[in-house]
Amino acid sequence: MQALDLILSRKTAHDYARTEVDEAIVDRALLAAHHAPCHKHTWPWRFTKVGRATREAFVPTAVALKSQGRATPLPEKAAQKIREKLVDPAWLVVVTQVLAEDPHRRQEDYAACAAAIQNMQLALQAEGVHSKWGSGDLTRHPAVLEMLGVDGNLEDVVGFIWIGHPLAPPKGVPRPALDGFVRRLP
Ligand SMILES: Cc1cc2nc3c(=O)[nH]c(=O)nc-3n(C[C@H](O)[C@H](O)[C@H](O)COP(=O)(O)O)c2cc1C
Repeated sequence: MQALDLILSRKTAHDYARTEVDEAIVDRALLAAHHAPCHKHTWPWRFTKVGRATREAFVPTAVALKSQGRATPLPEKAAQKIREKLVDPAWLVVVTQVLAEDPHRRQEDYAACAAAIQNMQLALQAEGVHSKWGSGDLTRHPAVLEMLGVDGNLEDVVGFIWIGHPLAPPKGVPRPALDGFVRRLP
């Protein structure tokens, strides 16, 4: 597949079937991520492959977050939906950024991590595997960080990358016409 076709065909999948994806595919995507551009060669990214048992342990925290501000407990069906969202995708890769002291370095390291995630998502797409970059409250919750073994003083979560086969083909988000985003100077 040509690079542009691959890029244009990538769409976030939000709901996943409970199917498997060969770990070798994930490892190739991580190799692609590890080849992202990185100024000063700081290699700030860390990848944590999170299996279903650990994700199952996230469920009470996710339910508690969803229940915030409610007068009544979350209906069992809604709690079950949360559980499926966490456990059904074949893989979760948590991408963290090792935090530099210098603010400019930190910003550039974040950019490198974002590039790594894009590489990962495109490498997966090339092998017919879908993904989603998540950054909701759960991804920064102290209980979840502890389960991940991430020290929030040393690393930031850049994204939870959910990986698997979608329940339905993702619809995608149409982009506004490119013209409005390009400036041209003589
Ligand atoms: C930094 C970042 C954080 C994101 N966090 C979330 C998220 O928390 N939940 C979500 O549904 N999608 C999240 N996304 C995915 C975007 O919503 C998605 O890429 C966008 O809607 C465009 O859709 P597409 O990926 O299908 O082109 C995130 C994307 C980026 C770049």
